[in-house]
Amino acid sequence: MDNFNVDNDRDQVKRLCFEGAWAWFLEICFWCCVIAFVMYLLRRVFEGPFYRRTNRIDGKVVIVTGCNTGIGKETALELARRGARLYMACRDAARCEAARLEIIERTQNPNVFNRTLDLASLSSVRQFAERFLAEEDRLDILINNAGVMATPRKLTVDGFEQQLGINHLGHFLLTNLLLDRLKKSAPSRIVVVSSAAYMFGRINKNDLNSEKKYWPFFGAYAQSKLANILFTRKLAELLKDTSVTANCLHPGIVRTELMRYNNCLCFLKTIFHLITRSPKAGAQTTLYLALDPKFDALSGGYYEYMLRLPLLPWARNKEMANWLWEESEKMVGLKHNDDESKLTNITTVQVIKDEQ
Ligand SMILES: NC(=O)c1ccc[n+]([C@@H]2O[C@H](COP(=O)([O-])OP(=O)(O)OC[C@H]3O[C@@H](n4cnc5c(N)ncnc54)[C@H](OP(=O)(O)O)[C@@H]3O)[C@@H](O)[C@H]2O)c1
Repeated sequence: MDNFNVDNDRDQVKRLCFEGAWAWFLEICFWCCVIAFVMYLLRRVFEGPFYRRTNRIDGKVVIVTGCNTGIGKETALELARRGARLYMACRDAARCEAARLEIIERTQNPNVFNRTLDLASLSSVRQFAERFLAEEDRLDILINNAGVMATPRKLTVDGFEQQLGINHLGHFLLTNLLLDRLKKSAPSRIVVVSSAAYMFGRINKNDLNSEKKYWPFFGAYAQSKLANILFTRKLAELLKDTSVTANCLHPGIVRTELMRYNNCLCFLKTIFHLITRSPKAGAQTTLYLALDPKFDALSGGYYEYMLRLPLLPWARNKEMANWLWEESEKMVGLKHNDDESKLTNITTVQVIKDEQ
């Protein structure tokens, strides 16, 4: 009788405590759910906010550089969806065409054009600008997005270290060549895709071209992204009496092809897969600066996660921005002609001043 009771109790306990294989199975399921939920929350946090306004830009003329893939492609896709007359400025015509056809198919906007622009060649930049200026009477939004990161040391066609040459000098020349058209189309805007990597960067006055020492990420890339910010701030200052605004941004850490030149960083990319942003999420701050009406009158800021962030002192250094501008003019062979820069449609733009 006693034995019978003990067995009965044991059975009851088993039923209540889920002993044995079932208990293991349920415990594993429970922890899988917890991990999945935490991963989902982390993903949501790292994806960041999305640009939710529904404003359209039908007929507005937009150039996006480097938009056959990555952040640029997502930016181009959304701008086309909102009705832009979109010029895709890419170095590889075949890859650009494939992306263009996809964008047309997905947005049903036929006004998407494939134009060749190799920022590693000043003559290609000039040819692109010449053709664009002959084709279009206006330019409403210029997005300087293209970039390379942590490449092996290589020179552009014109002999510049390629991260400086592509990320900064090519865009510097392009923007200057298109500036009058932007002024004539005002209110218009320039958006520059920089990077938080600027924090590691310094403008190396004695070795801008990294001839004496080459450090792919912390040296040349970071310098080129700092140059993007100094350039944007100087532009904003020069354009303060026009209705052309210039702002720059960090898109976050985004899963794109940017790390293609560096196996070590590719390894990191795999590890950080969970905490990196999708290209669509990475395009949101660019879209915010390109689309939000408030940037018709707000210039010179640095943004991340659609928030304006303060800059470190070396990115606010006016003297350095002036030096870099003059040096860049010399390097790309640009002589600014003040007579050509007659301003139209003047309104007051608030230039963000946080230099110290
Ligand atoms: N991904 C990130 O985590 C991250 C973080 C901070 C900042 N950014 C910045 O975001 C921007 C976009 O990068 P992404 O992440 O989208 O990289 P991506 O996927 O590698 O795209 C870069 C784009 O730039 C183009 N490009 C490269 N060299 C060019 C040249 N010489 N002339 C014209 N186009 C050229 C590429 O064309 P091909 O495909 O033909 O090479 C590609 O379309 C870059 O400025 C980058 O510095 C990215």
